Amino acid sequence: MPTLSERDHAVLWHPYTQMQTAPLPIPIVKGEGSWLVAEDGTRYLDGISSWWTNLHGHAHLHIARRVSEQLHTLEHVLFAGFTHPPAVELAEQLLALLPRNQARVFYSDNGSTAVEVALKMALQYFHNHGQPERRTFLCFRDSYHGDTFGAMAVSSRGVFTAPFWPLLFAVEFIDVPVLGREAEVLAQLDALLTRPDVAGFIFEPLVLGTAGMVLYEPEILSEMLRRCHHRGVLCIADEVMTGFGRTGPLFASEELTEQPDIMCFSKGLTGGTLAMGLTTCAAPIYEAFLSQDKMKALFHGHSYTANPVACAAALASLELTRADECTEQRQRIAAAHAAFHREIAGQPGIRAVRHRGTILAVEYDPGEGTSYFSRLRDAFYQLALDKQVVLRPLGNVVYLLPPYCTTNQELELLYAVLRRMRELVLDFTPAPTLPEFLHD
Ligand SMILES: Cc1ncc(COP(=O)(O)O)c(C=O)c1O
Repeated sequence: MPTLSERDHAVLWHPYTQMQTAPLPIPIVKGEGSWLVAEDGTRYLDGISSWWTNLHGHAHLHIARRVSEQLHTLEHVLFAGFTHPPAVELAEQLLALLPRNQARVFYSDNGSTAVEVALKMALQYFHNHGQPERRTFLCFRDSYHGDTFGAMAVSSRGVFTAPFWPLLFAVEFIDVPVLGREAEVLAQLDALLTRPDVAGFIFEPLVLGTAGMVLYEPEILSEMLRRCHHRGVLCIADEVMTGFGRTGPLFASEELTEQPDIMCFSKGLTGGTLAMGLTTCAAPIYEAFLSQDKMKALFHGHSYTANPVACAAALASLELTRADECTEQRQRIAAAHAAFHREIAGQPGIRAVRHRGTILAVEYDPGEGTSYFSRLRDAFYQLALDKQVVLRPLGNVVYLLPPYCTTNQELELLYAVLRRMRELVLDFTPAPTLPEFLHD
């Protein structure tokens, strides 16, 4: 009798996976709080909230109940010409929490589509205003905004997008204004803002996730947005990862003194329960699409736009996220991360440590450069699994992004794995020189 993993291997194709060499996937049959339970009973601590989606723990009763009620009431209805209570309630609640200039909500299916919608809103805003020449986006050189074509185009020209580079529309990259590089980045931005073709600036606010949890400060981002606005350039905050409390406040943009025009959400939006994306925009953007001319409408939509069950999950998750208990949980995790940061920073084998809110990243020093394909990555991944912890190192950068319900004891298990990884790094032999390596 083949196992579930073997049956999977016979018929499935997994994301970000070299199917020829990857080990068989681990069959998970149950989720409980911060834990995932495998078919053989092994319990794994989910240190990365299952790709940054889960906020309140797996199979959360409150969310499950609301989803179940909605399933028994209305599972889906097309969203052109029709509406339903969960879509309206969620939009009303979110707009009351978002920066005050956000006026409209457009639903889609995931983080990448939330970004696609944002890009299309920005481009068509200028098109509808008779400025179609404004079609260039500015983005951070190391950014990641998703895997659909528009989202890839505004993301780093790195390993994720290499086969598609010739097909990605041209953008202008600027460096991330990490501490000490602010003036340099402002100069890059100013030079680009003199061009008449710039439509928008898209950014991951305060934390570039896939780049390795690279941090920068709200003051410099606010200044960048001010300069963009001065030139009429639309600013798009991709809060797909940072939204719903990850960086501390409910949204990273809350820390800005200059507000984005368009915002993208997904991942934590439904508490990690169902796929949904959402793009919000300020009133002037929405108003640019209002006309007697049908061609000025936003021709974008997905079959499952504003799915009522996903909206119900989002409403239930938002209720939990706004409760005092959740704020306390996030503060507790942030304080624990800060203490661990102080402990491990500067030790041999550690190149850098970064934390913001419930996110902690350790950049190990393997005696070679930082790379997504660092040979340490697989060793780190396996080490974590052996300790029954799920982590997905980004090369030699290992990050924690736990569900908010993760207890102090569970956090300690995660830190223990990070300490053990440091020992592994100290025993690690750097890669051979390039010619030798090529003969491998
Ligand atoms: C900042 C950011 N934007 C967009 C996306 C794409 O989201 P999805 O994987 O839901 O398409 C991600 C995914 O990691 C992300 O981190």
